[in-house]
Amino acid sequence: MDFSKWVPLISTIYVLFSLTLTLLNCNLNPEELAEIPINFLNLAKRPEILDWMVGVRRKLHENPELGFEEFETSKLIRHELDKMGIPYKYPIAVTGFVGFIGTGKPPFVAIRADMDALAMQESVEWEHKSKVEGKMHGCGHDAHVAMLLGAAKLLQEHRHDLQGTVILVFQPAEEGGGGAKIMTETGILENVAAIFGLHVSTRFPIGAVASRSGSILAGSGCFEAIINGKGGHAALPQHTIDPILAASNVIVSLQYLVSREADPLDSQVVTVAQFQGGNAFNVIPDSATIGGTFRAFSEEGLMGLKRRIEEVITRQAAVHKCNATVNFDDKPFFPVTVNNEQLHQYFRNVARDMLGERNILEMKPIMGSEDFSFFAKVIPGYFYYVGMQNETGERLHPGHSPFFTVNEEVLPYGAALHASLAMRYLLEYQPKSASSNVISHDEL
Ligand SMILES: *[C@@H]1O[C@H](CO)[C@@H](O)[C@H](O)[C@H]1NC(C)=O
Ligand SMILES: *[C@@H]1O[C@H](CO)[C@@H](O)[C@H](O)[C@H]1NC(C)=O
Ligand SMILES: [Zn+2]
Ligand SMILES: [Zn+2]
Repeated sequence: MDFSKWVPLISTIYVLFSLTLTLLNCNLNPEELAEIPINFLNLAKRPEILDWMVGVRRKLHENPELGFEEFETSKLIRHELDKMGIPYKYPIAVTGFVGFIGTGKPPFVAIRADMDALAMQESVEWEHKSKVEGKMHGCGHDAHVAMLLGAAKLLQEHRHDLQGTVILVFQPAEEGGGGAKIMTETGILENVAAIFGLHVSTRFPIGAVASRSGSILAGSGCFEAIINGKGGHAALPQHTIDPILAASNVIVSLQYLVSREADPLDSQVVTVAQFQGGNAFNVIPDSATIGGTFRAFSEEGLMGLKRRIEEVITRQAAVHKCNATVNFDDKPFFPVTVNNEQLHQYFRNVARDMLGERNILEMKPIMGSEDFSFFAKVIPGYFYYVGMQNETGERLHPGHSPFFTVNEEVLPYGAALHASLAMRYLLEYQPKSASSNVISHDEL
């Protein structure tokens, strides 16, 4: 792609902005802006970039690492950034880091990838199957890393056309660990105007993207409870306090929270997914343990569920003369993922220019959660899905399935979307005031 013809124009616009202190909508005409995503996609599909992304993704797939243990993953990515001459700040949140491309000055815009794998055994037999027993990139985060690296390459090659700074966010521990929470606490988003994140999806066709404005993913929390009774002979229940029966009634009582207490039009979930107790058919154990997750689309909804889950467990256990302790501290609560309305419109424009109107799908909210929500809580954020289902190819298994596979043809789409969203954002949303130039990231 040849951006050189834009450079004089862009420079003029930039001077104009500094002088007039206006914001929004640069003077590149719509056709010129529309060329950016098209050209990036064509570039990303070229073998020298595509094959390299595929190579990175397969290497990561063979060597999956769990949350906060992504040391080799992080090293591999940083090595690739070194080769491109992209500076970064490492470490942030154990294995995470941020890279910088552009002027080093505002505006700042961030694009993010998660790096962690899942504690599960891969069942797909292929050349690049996971080499680590019990660990698998079963959610596609290996592809997310390859896409963000692809975007880094596209942007670095056109760094002189960037009217600001792109921040590459490589985060650890998305799968329950809340790596994004720790990263935001270190202040990486200070002065950053917007952040974009994506997820590969088997629900949508290749070449299509899907998202929505407002709440897209639920907030979530998890709990564990130990229900204590008094063990004894299974044939002499009168000498025992049975924690298994108490736990069973607790589980049933928890079902009423969503079916009777929640507004039917306000989606919530309470699921007990763990139940442990007893080792022998003829011994009533001392205790039983249950655990699960709860979801809601508001902070109040989530906190309300938390309070009632604790009450129902302790009081229902007490009905059976048991004591219960409830623990919510195992993992951080994930906030609701809320897509900024203006960014939704902006995303639709950029994606439409790249993929065509019919490939921009509007989706309903889903009860899953994403720790991208921690970023989107601090600054305007936007999260979207990139389809990878090939209608003529074999049907892909969904994320978290041991048979999950990535259609690697999706990689150029993710890379080009990341790069286009970042570059055009810097062109279209210049800061209000030239004095804002004094703001900068001290990391730079
Ligand atoms: C429950 O706790 C009370 C007060 O600590 C104690 O007296 C009782 O024995 C406990 N019951 C069980 C079943 O653990
Ligand atoms: C779908 O898969 C077939 C067979 O692998 C391939 O030839 C084709 O290019 C793919 N289509 C898209 C849109 O990726
Ligand atoms: Zn996942
Ligand atoms: Zn994921």
